[in-house]
Amino acid sequence: MNYDSVPLRDFKELNDWETVIFVYQSALKQVETKIDILNGEFQHRHKYNPIEHVKSRIKTPESIVKKLKRHGYESSIENMVRYVNDIAGIRISCSFTSDIYLIADMISKQNDLTILARRDYMKNPKKSGYRSYHVITKYEVQTKEGPKEVKVEIQIRTMAMNFWATAEHSLRYKYSGNIPQELQDRLHNCAEAAFHLDQEMSTIREEITNAQRLNEIRRKMTSNILDNIRKLHFMLNLEDMSAINKEFSDVWNSNDIDKLREFNERLNVLVEVYRI
Ligand code: GTP
Ligand code: MG
Repeated sequence: MNYDSVPLRDFKELNDWETVIFVYQSALKQVETKIDILNGEFQHRHKYNPIEHVKSRIKTPESIVKKLKRHGYESSIENMVRYVNDIAGIRISCSFTSDIYLIADMISKQNDLTILARRDYMKNPKKSGYRSYHVITKYEVQTKEGPKEVKVEIQIRTMAMNFWATAEHSLRYKYSGNIPQELQDRLHNCAEAAFHLDQEMSTIREEITNAQRLNEIRRKMTSNILDNIRKLHFMLNLEDMSAINKEFSDVWNSNDIDKLREFNERLNVLVEVYRI
C-alpha cells in the first residue's frame, strides 16, 4: 500500500483537506478524459469500442478515515495521501475479458500515467469470487502552486463481473462486512456463473469473428475469380471457357473454401500463362 515513489513534499503546503481533494478531483477528470480519448481512438482505428462504461468517484471523507483506521494509521492528510490508493477511483466496464487486457495495455502506454502497481484478480480471483483487473497509477496535476502528484486507482472488469461486484458490495454494506456463510457461498456460485458467461460469450465472439473473416476471404477470392474469368474470355475458346464456368459453379456450390482457394490459384496461373 505504501509507494515511496509518490513524493509527499508536493503536499507540504497543501495542508488544507479541500485543496487536496480538489487536486484528486482534477486528476480524476483528466484521467477519465484520457480514457475516453483512448476509447475514441480505438473506435476510429478498429471500428470497435472496448469500453462500455466508465464511472468515477472520489472516496468520501468518512471512508478515507475508516480505511486509515482499519490499517492502523492516524487520520491525517499526509497519511491519506501516502496510504490510501483509491481516493480517486475509476471503474471501467467492458463486454469481453480480452478487452480488459487491451484497456490495461493502452493505459500502461500513456506517458503521463505511471503504473505503481497491478493486481490481476482475473487470473487470481479473490476468495469472495471477485474478478477484476486493478492498476494503481500516479498522475501529475498542474496547479497554481506547481505540479502535484496523486494516485488514481483504475478497476477494469467485465459487465457481468461489475453486476456481481455491485450486488456483492451492497450486501457487504448491508451486513457490515459479515455476510452469512450461506449467502457468501451463493454469491461465490454467482461469481462463477458470471465467469462462465464471460467465457462462453468470448467463445461465441471468436466464432463470429472467424466466420466474418472467412466470408471476407471468400468474397475477395470470388471477386478475383470473376475478374480472371472475364480476362480468359478473350484468350480461350468457347469449349474451354464453358468447362471453367462449370468448374466454378461446382466449386462455388460445394461451399469448400479450400477448393475455392485452389481454383483461384489455378486461374491466376492460367491468366499469367496466356498473358505471356
Ligand atoms: P481495500 O480492499 O479497498 O481496503 O484495498 P486493498 O489494498 O486491500 O486492495 P484490493 O485490491 O483488495 O481492493 C481494492 C478495491 O477492489 C476495493 O476497494 C473494492 O472496490 C474492490 N474489491 C476488492 N475485493 C472485492 C470483493 O471481494 N468484492 C467487491 N465487490 N469488490 C472488491
Ligand atoms: Mg481489500
